[in-house]
Amino acid sequence: MEKFILTRPTVEYASQITEYRQEFLDAGDSMDGTGPLRRIEDPEEYVKTCAEYEDRQTVPSHLVPATQFFLVRKSDNRLVGMLQVRHCFNDYLEKFGGHIGYSVRPTERRRGYAKEMLKMALPYCLEIGIDKVLITCADGNIGSEKTILANGGVYESTVHEPTDNRNLKRFWIKL
Ligand SMILES: CC(C)(COP(=O)(O)OP(=O)(O)OC[C@H]1O[C@@H](n2cnc3c(N)ncnc32)[C@H](O)[C@@H]1OP(=O)(O)O)[C@@H](O)C(=O)NCCC(=O)NCCS
Repeated sequence: MEKFILTRPTVEYASQITEYRQEFLDAGDSMDGTGPLRRIEDPEEYVKTCAEYEDRQTVPSHLVPATQFFLVRKSDNRLVGMLQVRHCFNDYLEKFGGHIGYSVRPTERRRGYAKEMLKMALPYCLEIGIDKVLITCADGNIGSEKTILANGGVYESTVHEPTDNRNLKRFWIKL
């Protein structure tokens, strides 16, 4: 059984952050749970920005504080997944975004890593005072839905998200 650590972004992972981003661009895939990675190409700036996002004093006023995590496989120190925990809601998060977003790099999928990453992040949610975690996923995103269900998610409702014109399923995990 593979072992992992869940850790915050550091410059130690600079080249792997670049690779992770590129893999998503190449696959035309959605960089969910990666915070500002879509718009920031420079990994050092990305690491710095993630740290700013975590602190209420430095997070941009249009965002809520959020903690960025990396899932790193111990055997080869490979960055295999990313997950973001939002500390509270704004209107968008309360309806559509939820507390947690995540992704696994395309070359590392279907190995149970998303399930493990979410499991490892839940104690942190409790630590910062979230005892009911909202996670949403696009209707039809079977991998994400199964990840949520495997971690105790209970389906609540399906809502229409107008920006991307898609239906999102809402699940709650009670901690
Ligand atoms: C969704 C995502 C995180 C899943 O990552 P993963 O590491 O492949 O997931 P896991 O291996 O832990 O799989 C979880 C379950 O989903 C199943 N699964 C994963 N991908 C699947 C797919 N494409 N189709 C069908 N089932 C899938 C697995 O077989 C497993 O099922 P099980 O519980 O019956 O064993 C990954 O596909 C991804 O990063 N997608 C793009 C970003 C995204 O959609 N994030 C979620 C936003 S809500």
